[in-house]
Amino acid sequence: METSDVQAVLRHLRLEEKGQVWVDDWGKSQSSYHPDEVFFLKEEFVTQNVIRLGMTIEVRQAYLDSLPMFEDPALKRLAWHCHHLLFKETGYDRDNVGRWPMVPRELDPRADMFYAFVFLSGVPSLMKYYEDLYVLPEVAQSTLSDLDLWIREHKNRHGRYGLREINWLKFHFDGRVFRLGRLQFEMTSFRRDLRAYRNVQDSRVVLLAGEGLEFREDGQFQSADRGEAGDVTWTSSLVEDKKTVKGNPITPRGRALPKPIELALSDWKEVLRKGDGQLAVHIPATGPMTFEACGRSFDAALAFFRQHFPDFNWRVFTCESWLLDPQFEEILKPESNVVQFQKECYLYPLTSANDTQMWERVFGKRIVQMADAPRDSSMRRAIVEFIEQGGRLRSGGMALFPEDLNWGAQPYRKMKMPS
Ligand SMILES: CC(C)(COP(=O)(O)OP(=O)(O)OC[C@H]1O[C@@H](n2cnc3c(N)ncnc32)[C@H](O)[C@@H]1OP(=O)(O)O)[C@@H](O)C(=O)NCCC(=O)NCCS
Repeated sequence: METSDVQAVLRHLRLEEKGQVWVDDWGKSQSSYHPDEVFFLKEEFVTQNVIRLGMTIEVRQAYLDSLPMFEDPALKRLAWHCHHLLFKETGYDRDNVGRWPMVPRELDPRADMFYAFVFLSGVPSLMKYYEDLYVLPEVAQSTLSDLDLWIREHKNRHGRYGLREINWLKFHFDGRVFRLGRLQFEMTSFRRDLRAYRNVQDSRVVLLAGEGLEFREDGQFQSADRGEAGDVTWTSSLVEDKKTVKGNPITPRGRALPKPIELALSDWKEVLRKGDGQLAVHIPATGPMTFEACGRSFDAALAFFRQHFPDFNWRVFTCESWLLDPQFEEILKPESNVVQFQKECYLYPLTSANDTQMWERVFGKRIVQMADAPRDSSMRRAIVEFIEQGGRLRSGGMALFPEDLNWGAQPYRKMKMPS
C-alpha cells in the first residue's frame, strides 16, 4: 500500500469517516516518514522507556505483546502521523485530539494499545523539557504514572489493555499537568461564569454568580440533573459600576441565593473572574485521598509552581468533580476523606451538573435497578439509600484561594457571608 495516500490508509484501517480529522495535515508528517526509522516502534525504545517511567510489569508486558501490530504499514504510518502532530508540529490545534478515533479492533485485537505507543513516543522530549525546568525525576515519574494507570483502567473497564484518555493525557505531555504527592495540578484558566471578591479588611471571600444564569429554588442551576429536577425560579444578575458590584452570592456550601447583595468596591477587591489563570486539581484513582496527603499536595503545589513556573499567573485552585456534591456531607460519615476535603473548600454549583461521573467512578457503570447495586462500601451504601429515597447526586465545583490555604482550618466555613 502507498502510505502517502491518506484515504487508502484510512480505508485499510476502517477509519474512512472518523479518520477524516487527520486528512488535512497528512502531508506535514510525510517528508519525515521513513518506515524503517520509526524510533518509538523499536523494541529497544519501548523497553527502555517503560522502565524509565517505572511502569508496572503488566503494562510493560502489554506494550511488548502489542508491538507486532505495527507490522501493518498503515498502522505504522498513522502512528508516525499522530506522533508528529502531538510532538513535532507546533501549530497543531490540540482541540482536535479529542476527535481522534480509536483504531477498530476488527483490524487487530491489540488495537486499543495504539495510543499507548503514540504517547510513549513523547517521553524523551518531555523528559528533556522537565530537565530544563529542573523538575525532579520523582515528580516526572509520578506525573507520568498516569499513563500506566489509564492503560490498567482500560483493562478494568474493557477487559483488555489500551488507552482511550488521550484528550486528558495530552495535557501531561504538553507539560501542563504535574502530580505532586496525592493530587495532580493542571495549569489552565478558569472557565466558569462566576466572580470572586475579597474583603480588604478581614479577608473574607464571596463568590457571585454571573449575569443572566437560570437557577432553581434549591440554588442549583436549572440545567442540572438534565433539567428534570425543577423549573427556573430565578435568574441571576451581576451589575458593576465604579463603586459597587451587586449580584447573587453563592454560599461556601455551594448554593446560589436569589437575594442579591451589594459590595462596595472600596472594601471588596475582585480576586477571580472567567479567563483568569488557575490550577485545576485532579485526583487520580490510586487509593484513598487521605486528608493529610491532600494538604501536603496543596502546600507542595504552592512551592512547585512558584519555583518552576514563576511567570504563570494563577489566582485559585479549583476542582470540578462528582465528589464535590455538597450532599455528600449529609450522607457520608464525617471522617470520610471526601467530606473532609469539601470542608476546606468554597463549593460552587455547575451548569448541567449530572450523575454520570459518579456512576462511572463509584460503580463502574450506571445502575438502573437499585436492588442490583453493590453495597460493599459505606459510600456505595449511602449513595444507593439516598437514590432509593428519591435523591439525585451531581457533580460540583470548588475554589480554594492560595491566600486561604491552611489545611484543616476550614476557612470558608468560618467566614461570615456579607448581607
Ligand atoms: C476519590 C477517592 C480517592 C475517594 O476515596 P476515599 O479517600 O476512600 O474516600 P472516603 O474516605 O470519602 O470514602 C468513604 C468510604 O467510601 C468508600 N469509597 C470511596 N470512594 C469510593 C469509590 N469510588 N467507589 C466505591 N467506594 C468508595 C471508601 O472505601 C470508604 O468506605 P468504608 O467506609 O466502607 O471503608 C476514590 O473515590 C477514588 O479513587 N476515585 C477514583 C478517582 C476519582 O474519582 N477522581 C476524581 C475525578 S475528578
